Amino acid sequence: MQWSLVAAALGLVAPASALLRFGCAQLTVQRLDPLVNPGQAPSTHLHQIIGGNAFNVTMDPATLDIPSKATCTSCQFTEDFSNYWTATIFFRARNGSLKRVPQMAQAGMEQTNGGMVVYYMSDALFDTQQKSKVTAFKPGFRMLLGDAASQTFDQMKKYRQLSYTCMQNQGTRNNDTPYFPKSPCPGGIMINHYFPTCWDGKNLDTPNHKDHMAYPVGGTFESGAPCPSTHPVKVPQILLETVWDTRQFNKQADWPADGSQPFLWSTGDTTGYASHADYVFGWKDNSLQKAMDSHSYVTGHGLKTQSIAQQNKCTVPDMIREPLDGWLDALPGGMKPSPL
Ligand SMILES: *[C@@H]1O[C@H](CO)[C@@H](O)[C@H](O)[C@H]1NC(C)=O
Ligand SMILES: *[C@@H]1O[C@H](CO)[C@@H](O)[C@H](O)[C@H]1NC(C)=O
Repeated sequence: MQWSLVAAALGLVAPASALLRFGCAQLTVQRLDPLVNPGQAPSTHLHQIIGGNAFNVTMDPATLDIPSKATCTSCQFTEDFSNYWTATIFFRARNGSLKRVPQMAQAGMEQTNGGMVVYYMSDALFDTQQKSKVTAFKPGFRMLLGDAASQTFDQMKKYRQLSYTCMQNQGTRNNDTPYFPKSPCPGGIMINHYFPTCWDGKNLDTPNHKDHMAYPVGGTFESGAPCPSTHPVKVPQILLETVWDTRQFNKQADWPADGSQPFLWSTGDTTGYASHADYVFGWKDNSLQKAMDSHSYVTGHGLKTQSIAQQNKCTVPDMIREPLDGWLDALPGGMKPSPL
């Protein structure tokens, strides 16, 4: 998202309140999901993961202190050892063969190896009185956004603001659909995941990884709408932007003859409604709260940073070791494309 444009549209001068925006390189791509399928190697479908190198098959909050276990992070802010992940995107050729779509770094951070751009936002961005304050997540906190089983817009829409941006160029930010774009996107496809912003204040996690979180009532986080009484604690809004470099797949002659679009999630979902993302909090000490309280814009006043070359060096070993590159006969884990 381009905040200068948003702010201009709302008639605001450069907002002075808290907004962190930072790049994170790819930590690993493999079939693991320590939130939904802990202990299961491989997990059901393929993920792309960024953040700290404490990422593993199991990340039990009862025994794992993420910031003390991790020795590096693929993110620009070196106190952020959190992990963030989404499923991956594949292209399906007319003959049914599948190829994984690479990720692309955003403008201004071109040397980054794939990965995502992460935002932590305070709604005070839109509050000229600067009255609003968000509470940072606590150690052990984690959450899941979206549903890998969604197949319709009705199922998807209870997770607000899941979207696909068909990029005409690197700067495109206003061409969104809740499903995969129906025609080729010359600048790639940006997939946006906005996490919910109201916490119950008690549970660091819940069995479905969702019930401890809710959305504001009577408006949006951005408009300063209040949290429901069941989930009264306002937390920063996390946004993940992932740009998929679809450019090598944009020849219309390679697209399905029936006029449908050729991309699908690693879950097998061809609609786009199964978009989902996972978050495991891992900021060191109270660095995130301090950054949000500093009312800095983009840079995270007081946070330590590292170079993109250092970010790219932080990876974890491939623990599954299955073929992911080149033309594949089937999706990893045998996930079936649906609906066909
Ligand atoms: C993952 O967990 C295994 C088993 O506990 C351990 O041997 C390995 O070092 C861990 N990997 C990382 C990157 O922490
Ligand atoms: C399927 O199509 C792709 C793209 O045209 C091609 O590169 C690949 O070799 C084909 N695979 C098979 C098994 O024919």
